[in-house]
Amino acid sequence: MNSILERLENPGFPLAEIRDDFSYLKLPGDPIIYFDNAATTQRPEPVLKSVVNFYRSENGNPLRGAHRLGNLATEAMFESRKTVANFINAKEKEIIFTKNASESLNLISYVWALNNLKPKDQILITRMEHHSNCVNWQFVAEKTGAELIYIDINDHDYTLDMADYEAKLSDKTKIVAFTAASNVLGCIPDSKKIISMAKSVNAITVVDAAQFIPHAKVDVKDLDCDFLVFSGHKMLAPFGIGVLYGKQELLNEMPPFLYGGEMIEYVDDYSSSFTGLPYKYEAGTQDVGGMVGLAAAIKYIEKIGMNNIAAYEHALTSYAYEQMKQLDFVDIYHAKQNNTAPVLAFNVKNAHPHDVASILDYYGVAVRAGHHCAQPLHRRLGLNSTNRASFAFYNTKEEVDLFIDALKNVLNIMHLD
Ligand SMILES: Cc1ncc(COP(=O)(O)O)c(C=O)c1O
Repeated sequence: MNSILERLENPGFPLAEIRDDFSYLKLPGDPIIYFDNAATTQRPEPVLKSVVNFYRSENGNPLRGAHRLGNLATEAMFESRKTVANFINAKEKEIIFTKNASESLNLISYVWALNNLKPKDQILITRMEHHSNCVNWQFVAEKTGAELIYIDINDHDYTLDMADYEAKLSDKTKIVAFTAASNVLGCIPDSKKIISMAKSVNAITVVDAAQFIPHAKVDVKDLDCDFLVFSGHKMLAPFGIGVLYGKQELLNEMPPFLYGGEMIEYVDDYSSSFTGLPYKYEAGTQDVGGMVGLAAAIKYIEKIGMNNIAAYEHALTSYAYEQMKQLDFVDIYHAKQNNTAPVLAFNVKNAHPHDVASILDYYGVAVRAGHHCAQPLHRRLGLNSTNRASFAFYNTKEEVDLFIDALKNVLNIMHLD
């Protein structure tokens, strides 16, 4: 506990200065304790400014214009892609901009999976997937006759059951799609191991990094994954911008997803040829403001330092977990492993999560209630829904203390004791 408190005292970055960048902390009325970061993060001033600046002084339609503003927008698009590529150690051609992680996963499903799977092939996903990395595979299975198989979790520690994975992996496995961090249990599976095992049977690997990338360094070369997806809005960037990383060879082989402007090479009356990467997958006018915002978010994160962020958030989550454990009226569903994502799912015994969230909101604490788009996982846990507190580097120990006090008040207000 001492090292946790030490890290919370000395985060390794100027926490007060950082908090000054977040305008939700200055809204009139009672302060908001924002613990719903896994749903979407808040946006710091430099990110907001970058987007406004783009629309103020660089706004033209990218890739088309022979004029100054069009060229500035094109330049902004290039620069943003370069920043994202460097951030995850990919080539610029391998970065496809999408709306969000869900759209990126749909792209893989429609374009790679529908064209490559056949009856009796198998798709492995984990029991802790977000619906975005589950419903799409149900669709693929239904369309192709492939079989969808779930890798189980361990009951004793809420981690991924690697023995179950090994047992289910076979020559029939064509895709292994898994979350790099559970949005409910906080479990961080061993991505490298999952990927290398998948490679041993020549399966394609799809990493859902939506809940991982805001909290830890991602290196796609080191992971050696085939595809990796994430959303900007979970890492300080605007809504509406997401990323699909794909290995160049795979992206080159695949047909386009959406058709329209800028993704063509030549359009004949009844057929067309398509341009190369990454534009082949970016039909129509793109969200350059979102790309600029995402690049600014990455620079903001890099300035603080991903290692600092990870260590601080880990300390904050551990502290919150230890405090919650003292509350005998709370059940916690959190992976027991050294490193977890900063999310704590819990239930107040005999209380509905929506009531709990409403009472916490009354005390200024924003948490989520529901199944967090992970119904197969909740069913596996024997639950309908949970509450979820999720943290970011701009949260504080004092906020956690107030949250714990508010939880105690839930008990009193609902007369559960
Ligand atoms: C693990 C995980 N994957 C995917 C998604 C989908 O993200 P988006 O809604 O931005 O597409 C989420 C969103 O909560 C998530 O937590």
